[in-house]
Amino acid sequence: MTDAPILTVTDLTVRFPIRGPFARKLGEIRALDGVSFDLAEGEILGLVGESGCGKSTLGKTLMGIQAPSSGSITFAGKEIAGRTPREARELRRRLQYAYQDPGASLDPRWKIGKSLEEPLIIHTDLPRRERLKKVAEILTSVGLPAGHADLFPHEISGGQQRRVGLARILMLNPEVVILDEPTAGLDVSVQATVLRLFRDLRDTFDLTYIFISHDLSVVRLMCHRVAVMYLGRIVEMGPVADLMDDPKHPYTQSLLAAIPKVNGPRVTENFWLKGEPADASNLPRGCRFQGRCPHVQPVCRQDDPADRIVGAQSVACHFAGEVFPPVPTAKESERA
Ligand SMILES: Nc1ncnc2c1ncn2[C@@H]1O[C@H](COP(=O)(O)OP(=O)(O)OP(=O)(O)O)[C@@H](O)[C@H]1O
Ligand SMILES: [Mg+2]
Repeated sequence: MTDAPILTVTDLTVRFPIRGPFARKLGEIRALDGVSFDLAEGEILGLVGESGCGKSTLGKTLMGIQAPSSGSITFAGKEIAGRTPREARELRRRLQYAYQDPGASLDPRWKIGKSLEEPLIIHTDLPRRERLKKVAEILTSVGLPAGHADLFPHEISGGQQRRVGLARILMLNPEVVILDEPTAGLDVSVQATVLRLFRDLRDTFDLTYIFISHDLSVVRLMCHRVAVMYLGRIVEMGPVADLMDDPKHPYTQSLLAAIPKVNGPRVTENFWLKGEPADASNLPRGCRFQGRCPHVQPVCRQDDPADRIVGAQSVACHFAGEVFPPVPTAKESERA
């Protein structure tokens, strides 16, 4: 791993308009709300958070599938916005997104070999013979028999579809791969094999990963650093061991508290997340976590917290690194 960032994201926002009758704009969803981070070459950055917090939107925006509303994305030292179509296409080849649902990225009417060959037809001038050779090579490198090129997607298992999805991306020699929930829906035993494959491929092809998951134990196993998202913002980021052993943001604390520990339960009543996240189209003034935070104080309803550096982490909380205001006991909150 080198220190030079391969990807720099600064203050990225994505807003989706909510439209009513006659396309009248009724409001907007803040799917990303000022996201900033760096990615070092060779790094695996985990991206975690509840459903709807903006993980896929971030992945798609980095890839150029989704246009940002504002902010900047620099890839290998070059700003992506404002590229010519040709340059944008080349940058996009180097940055690939593995879809959350691998079945969806494969055409059900096409044999797997055809799906794998297609990116080579679009992006390279290789003759057919070379393309077929490459298809066979990549199938082997993701642990599938080359003969699978003649099968249709519905003829292979979910785990094998993941491998094909990955193979399709690897056809283009990318540098950064965004893996969106790469083990969702797989049996635990298949998960372990697929995770090992990702690691091996990272070493073989010198890849850098953004690893989107809401499975924190998988993130711990796979990632160097982790970014925790809540309603469109990174609320805590840091090296995986520091963040998971000593989380500083109340949201991260509650996420981790919800995982039962092998040696005894770690779940404490006060740390269960209560209620639903705020409405992304109607964020409250102040901290976006205030409605569910056990430590909420008046300042949290006034000011959106800036990022603070606490130990190895960067934390968006007014009280991070300080003694948190006491959590009312269950009885006290009942009375309130
Ligand atoms: N094309 C779109 N148009 C309108 N709203 C969208 C669009 N895509 C996403 N959103 C909204 O943006 C927010 C973030 O969605 P996103 O898919 O990025 O979440 P996620 O973190 O990937 O969730 P999950 O864990 O369920 O995959 C959600 O409120 C979602 O409804
Ligand atoms: Mg998603």
